Amino acid sequence: MPMRILAFETSCDETSVALVECSGTLRQAQGRNLRFRVLENIVSSQVAIHRPFGGVVPNLAKREHQLNLPKIWEQLKKKKIRFDLIAVTVGPGLEPALWAGIEFAKKLSQETDKPLVGANHMEGHLFSNWLPLIGKVSSGGGSASGGKSKKEKVKSAVIKFPAIALVVSGGHTILLKMDSLTKWKKLGETRDDAAGEAFDKVARLLGLQYPGGPEVERFAKNGNPKAIDFPRPMLRDKSYEFSFSGLKTSVLYYHRDNPKTSKEDICASFQQAVIDVLVGKTMRAAEEFGAGSVLLSGGVAANQALRKNLELKTKNFGLDFYVPDFQYNTDNAVMIAAAAYIAKLRGKKYPMRANSNLSL
Ligand code: KG4
Ligand code: ZN
Repeated sequence: MPMRILAFETSCDETSVALVECSGTLRQAQGRNLRFRVLENIVSSQVAIHRPFGGVVPNLAKREHQLNLPKIWEQLKKKKIRFDLIAVTVGPGLEPALWAGIEFAKKLSQETDKPLVGANHMEGHLFSNWLPLIGKVSSGGGSASGGKSKKEKVKSAVIKFPAIALVVSGGHTILLKMDSLTKWKKLGETRDDAAGEAFDKVARLLGLQYPGGPEVERFAKNGNPKAIDFPRPMLRDKSYEFSFSGLKTSVLYYHRDNPKTSKEDICASFQQAVIDVLVGKTMRAAEEFGAGSVLLSGGVAANQALRKNLELKTKNFGLDFYVPDFQYNTDNAVMIAAAAYIAKLRGKKYPMRANSNLSL
């Protein structure tokens, strides 16, 4: 019996609500029979509200979520949606923002008499690789990079294990080895700034607007990635740890000492340095652990140059490459429904309180 999950995501600056029909069990071949059918997917972005501050203001985010949630729920109520379970992100994220979602979901659970479960935002990013792809599926892998041609929804991915998963967001940079949908090991993560955070900070020091990642990418498109030889932190290091704070500082000094160098060249060169480190370490892990596939997800996975670089490298090595459909990289509640469903299948429960430090 499929299960309809109404999911809420308010960990940062997007208020998102989704209704997803989930089916399948873990028993059969590593989750090959999992299906997620997206029935509703609403994302209300607060970018314009936080832009004047150059970043997300937690209490403003909370207030906006508190305003948005009842409005979105009214819309859905009019459609007379049917659901079996409510899921809400409990962490990681900004605590006041998380609480806004949790409080709303608790109230709704009481009103509708439907059970409520907590979901892990990072599991959401990880499992977004199992969401249906919209657009063309390339041969071999399930890459939908670009995702521009909105064709038929195709079935969820059949992912070969072991898989190496790179999860890159504003708060996290994590490399995982997955043996199955329920068993994974963290190989490494960032020691300081996350990849997305580095994009945001570089954008800020160059005077580009928030959110920084997409802006740096936009400038990078017209720049030369070889113009400046920025450091590739920890690329040659044997561990699978990352560090991006030194790279950000290099950009700061370079910009200060070379004010005539174009922002386009700085962005392109910085972006290439980040990509070289992320792709280099991911491919080394894929080789070391004999991976069948490589998965990329999280907000930074929206970066087309990163997607293309990793796709190319995995193809050269004969590996399958997966990246979620474009809209499921940045924060969304569809991935939260998927995470809640998979957590339920594996019997994992999260306490119903905000936990900003939750990880994978
Ligand atoms: O996953 P996400 O939406 O939120 C968190 O869980 O943190 O990721 C947001 C991060 C931000 O740091 C943003 O600058 C970055 O993802 N990002 C990008 C791009 N789009 C979003 N970074 C590089 N290139 C992009 N196109
Ligand atoms: Zn996120």
